[in-house]
Amino acid sequence: MTEKNTETKKTTPEQVEEDRALDLALRPKGWDEYIGQKKAKQNVQIMIKAAEKRGESCPDHMLFHGNSGLGKTTLAYLIAKEMNAGIRITSGPAIKKSGELAAILTNLSEGDVLFIDEIHRLNKVCEEMAYPVLEEFNLNLMVGNGPMARTVDLNIPRFTLIGATTQLALLSGPLRNRFGATFRLKPYSKEEIEKIIRRSAEILGVKIDEESIKDIAERSRFTPRVANRLLKRVRDFAEVEGDGTINPKITKKTFDSLNIDEKGLESGDINILTTIMEKFDGGPAGIKAIAAAANENKDTILEIYEPYLVQIGFIKRTSRGRIATEKAYNHLEK
Ligand SMILES: Nc1ncnc2c1ncn2[C@@H]1O[C@H](COP(=O)(O)OP(=O)(O)O)[C@@H](O)[C@H]1O
Ligand SMILES: [Mg+2]
Repeated sequence: MTEKNTETKKTTPEQVEEDRALDLALRPKGWDEYIGQKKAKQNVQIMIKAAEKRGESCPDHMLFHGNSGLGKTTLAYLIAKEMNAGIRITSGPAIKKSGELAAILTNLSEGDVLFIDEIHRLNKVCEEMAYPVLEEFNLNLMVGNGPMARTVDLNIPRFTLIGATTQLALLSGPLRNRFGATFRLKPYSKEEIEKIIRRSAEILGVKIDEESIKDIAERSRFTPRVANRLLKRVRDFAEVEGDGTINPKITKKTFDSLNIDEKGLESGDINILTTIMEKFDGGPAGIKAIAAAANENKDTILEIYEPYLVQIGFIKRTSRGRIATEKAYNHLEK
């Protein structure tokens, strides 16, 4: 994602700088605070309990996929907590050399959780080095070079790898197969997002009425991180323009001023839609052509704009390209 996007787009589900402190403060600290995702939650808890019952030090490796901001990192923390385990956090792009991965692995303790975020971006050399580790907890290290080179086999303590990815399709088959279970995090329902906003407002100590909760939920892209970020924006407005209490008037003012419409769409989303409508007669149009005509990066469209536009039924993906739906036309006419 480019600088420009993180600065201008308020409803992007990706973590931006201002989210870090907020994420930390609002992150659920127990299963009961982790709203929704019932299936993933249940299955994960069963995996942990079953491993315990068998007397194993930790459950199988787990993979979580789903859009940014849906709660993958939070789940990893909750799992480590439930396991009473230590957690090591890293990410695919952060591990540049195999030596770095070896250092992480050899420093793990029995029963630890290793969380690798954006695991689809782990480089090939590291990935291949990880295979025997994930299967047999055996690390084959190359020591020295030239004629003096030899391999040493190291035993790694049993641990649980938790991988997270926004792009399951970019994960290689062999890596995917080494996870004992794969879970997809789903978009949240309106009611679930409302619950999350209610809880967050309580933690932030801000008064908010039910109508405002609904207004924020509607614009949140059904993504907890976005909901929390919007809540914070509205709170800022309430503090500066009012007495700190959030009401529908303040909420409306905030969204008007930030240019976020009732569906949570911003200028970038509207640009994609109007491009398909005006330059391609509503489609079908190929993604590359849309990107060029809208003057947007293809990957940004695929990762940021399109998933939500498809989810709310404004864009339809067909074998011949993207189509703007009647729903989208109706929305933009208003
Ligand atoms: N199920 C949930 N219930 C309550 N809050 C959640 C939930 N999932 C995510 N959040 C909130 O959204 C923020 C982003 O979640 P995170 O786990 O960092 O998402 P991801 O790792 O998938 O990008 C967290 O700080 C947390 O406050
Ligand atoms: Mg995360």
